[in-house]
Amino acid sequence: MNHSIFDKRNYPIVNVEQGYGEWAQTYEQVVQDAMDIRLFERITAVDWQAHDYILDLACGTGRIGAWLENRTNAIIDGVDITHEMMAQAEQKNIYRMLQQASVFETGLPDAQYDLCTQSLADEHLPDLHPLYTEVARVTKAQGKFVIVGFHPYFLMLGMPTHYNNADGDDITIQSYVHLLSDHVKAAYGAGWSLVAMDEGIIDDDYIAHKPKWEKYYGTPISFSMVWQKLEVGQN
Ligand SMILES: C[S@@+](CC[C@H](N)C(=O)[O-])C[C@H]1O[C@@H](n2cnc3c(N)ncnc32)[C@H](O)[C@@H]1O
Repeated sequence: MNHSIFDKRNYPIVNVEQGYGEWAQTYEQVVQDAMDIRLFERITAVDWQAHDYILDLACGTGRIGAWLENRTNAIIDGVDITHEMMAQAEQKNIYRMLQQASVFETGLPDAQYDLCTQSLADEHLPDLHPLYTEVARVTKAQGKFVIVGFHPYFLMLGMPTHYNNADGDDITIQSYVHLLSDHVKAAYGAGWSLVAMDEGIIDDDYIAHKPKWEKYYGTPISFSMVWQKLEVGQN
């Protein structure tokens, strides 16, 4: 579903590459680790050290790569569609290779990665099927896919991802609402099995970092899912 039917702010809307291209320089000063990193830290279904090759999809400025680097000796590659975000990631010297491409069509070889990650990007994808299909293609059999996202309930409150441009104007980046069941349908259709799931809510910790969200206390803000790729013929 296009987010515009829920939008309560009605800021001007730009596409992903324009939006993240303009936001790249200040993105890490704004994004809240409480949205996604705290969910990564709660995941027990993944042994981060047990993998040799990891792909970080929609890697942006490399926040998740930086988190992974402290937990694994694996080789980490990154894919993102926005050049300016990847330029920030490149400076971190974490990724073996950074590929400017869509998560729908990475251009990477088949069955290359033991583990794939994607954080805070599915709300910008008009459809989840090509995501789960492409990640299944590049992941080895029995490999895992950890996806962390902005919670659809929160998006439905009318607040899509937004940033301030160089003039200080509020700008929304084109967003879509995917129900959690949309993830399940797309992932099962692409040969994934759900291993674990979690949700993060606006709680005391969150309010401590973002006091103005007190009014959303108790609302789900983010989710995580750990998928495992089935062997051919397994279901
Ligand atoms: C909110 S940022 C998240 C970046 C990083 N994963 C993090 O957690 O900080 C969203 C990122 O998704 C990327 N993105 C959005 N749609 C994409 C697509 N179809 N293919 C590849 N990257 C995409 C954007 O360029 C941006 O870097």
